[in-house]
Amino acid sequence: MKLAVVGSINMDMTVTAERIPKKGETLKGDSVHYIPGGKGANQAVAMARLGAEVGMFGCVGDDQFGKDLVENLQKEHIFTKHIAKIEDCPTGTAFITVGENDNTIVVVAGANGKVDKAYVDSIKEELKQYDMVVLQNEIPMETVEYVVDLCSEANIPIILNPAPACKLSEQIIKKVTYLTPNEHEVKLIFGEMPLEKILKQYPEKLIVTQGSMGVSVCKKDGTVVTIPARKANVADTTGAGDTLNGAFAVQAAGKKEMEEALLYANVAASLSTEKFGAQGGMPTNQEVELELEKLRKDGAL
Ligand code: RIB
Ligand code: NA
Repeated sequence: MKLAVVGSINMDMTVTAERIPKKGETLKGDSVHYIPGGKGANQAVAMARLGAEVGMFGCVGDDQFGKDLVENLQKEHIFTKHIAKIEDCPTGTAFITVGENDNTIVVVAGANGKVDKAYVDSIKEELKQYDMVVLQNEIPMETVEYVVDLCSEANIPIILNPAPACKLSEQIIKKVTYLTPNEHEVKLIFGEMPLEKILKQYPEKLIVTQGSMGVSVCKKDGTVVTIPARKANVADTTGAGDTLNGAFAVQAAGKKEMEEALLYANVAASLSTEKFGAQGGMPTNQEVELELEKLRKDGAL
């Protein structure tokens, strides 16, 4: 099973503080970390840890961050040959503040903004070798649409994680196999309709993640189900959504039944929050299976 991610690669500059600062406030932080991130790269790492063969497609700058980030992906056994190095352009960066109960993220696209149609044309034949393609919104929307067109024409299943939130055309929603917004993104895409009503329009396609509230989907028979989240001992929720998407991709590519796939993805995501950093706590398949077994034994499932 070969999974491709066409997406962002960032260096996360993460500071920890007691809480996130208020508007206009200067706050003393506790620590600063330079750690690999980016929604695309995070999802690729989540999939690789869970045992999938993963190819990462995207761009980094011709700088030290870019070098470090590609090396990090290689360490995770991700195929990086097609990551382009862009001259005179900084690698993507995210400025993250992790407070005790919440976080804030500001992303500067840098080289991720150079993932354009010309780049996609250069990798197009390679991309067609994959069983599934996973996309997010941290590369230009025009490119996302272009990849969706290309993959849907080639009959390659697509997961689009529309994060950060942005409006999507009806066309693109139609063409993707799975769309995985969180509870905020879904409102921006579909408006303020009741969630159940939106879900029913896209059975087994629209998957709405709601953090500790679980994940909701409409089944083929028209019933809406919410798969509850596992209770976590949270250290850092950064990248939890990425872990969920990566885990779901692996399960979906493996043709797992929807509810089972989401339960697995939920557990993977919750495990990821127990360690610091977006990629820090991303579990292996064995760790997820063990936890699922434990939850079953405890009657929690
Ligand atoms: O989803 C978490 C990610 O969002 C971080 O790693 C950061 O790079 C931002 O892109
Ligand atoms: Na984490």
